[in-house]
Amino acid sequence: MAEATCSAPGKVIFTGEHFVVYGAKAIAGAINLRAYATATTRNDGVISISSEDMGIHAEWRGAELLRESKRGASERLRPIREAVAGLIDKVKGSGLSISINSQIPRASGLGSSAAVSVACVAAGLYAYGYKPSHSEIIDLASIAEGIIHYRASGVDLAVSTYGGVISYRRGSKPAMIDIKKPMSLLLIDVGTPRRTGEMVRRVNLLREQYISIFEKLREAVEEITAECELALVNNRYERLGEILTINHNLLRAIGVSTKELDEALELAMRNGAIGGKLTGGGGGGCLIAVVNEEDIDIVYKKLSRAYNVYKVAIPQEGVRCDSLRTE
Ligand code: PMV
Repeated sequence: MAEATCSAPGKVIFTGEHFVVYGAKAIAGAINLRAYATATTRNDGVISISSEDMGIHAEWRGAELLRESKRGASERLRPIREAVAGLIDKVKGSGLSISINSQIPRASGLGSSAAVSVACVAAGLYAYGYKPSHSEIIDLASIAEGIIHYRASGVDLAVSTYGGVISYRRGSKPAMIDIKKPMSLLLIDVGTPRRTGEMVRRVNLLREQYISIFEKLREAVEEITAECELALVNNRYERLGEILTINHNLLRAIGVSTKELDEALELAMRNGAIGGKLTGGGGGGCLIAVVNEEDIDIVYKKLSRAYNVYKVAIPQEGVRCDSLRTE
């Protein structure tokens, strides 16, 4: 039996979420919270998946479910199973056992499901002695994301695979943005986990009713993204904070912010943040706050009294093989 452990990072979206689904450019950065997957080859045709953080496990032979740790576990793990079945097909393998361990809070807009899918696919391929390209990993991980999300744009998979800070337009290869100096951001988790697919569906309903308004907003997002790229490249945090706040208010306009997210942004700004925005699907989850380097620890401390706050470092490495033991 061969065994590989791979990991992939979570992400923040600086600009462009939701509009990226409809062709706008988005900017996303990999963060120092990772999902880990250990894959062990097996020759009995069984796919076994366990998620330590979700506390669930399921096993299949072909499409037949052999066992699950509790009711509903196999349904929750099915997207990963489908991607793993795809990779086994690709390498003409037999079975695989996969164990998942993730540091990324789930359903918070930090790309946890994409990072888990990327890590699992990479670990499975490496365990079978196959050294995948980035696009091969993305193709297989998309099988899982396609089941989890509605109309996924692919931005989460791209940033989790390539790492760094990327600009991304649906259907094109991501472009790396050269951040000369690493930066820290605060992530404020307001709780209220939500489903990205549900938020994307809601935005689509609004868009269908107001096509031309939505198109104008999409154009504004393109401008915001261009400004954000300049601010990132030149390490202009003041400008970055302001741009993100503009983007937040635009996301409010399409109904994906919440009272909790708006209040968290206000509190962050009252306590020294330059600006910020919700990140990811919205409806709850996480907010990014941009803070001057010299103030970040004090702002972190203040906000931690009210919220779960993470101080994250950007950019980070994308998918990687952490260990490999061949037969
Ligand atoms: O909520 P997250 O982290 O999965 O981010 C999704 C980003 C969206 O633009 C809302 C959807 C997508 O597929 O691009």
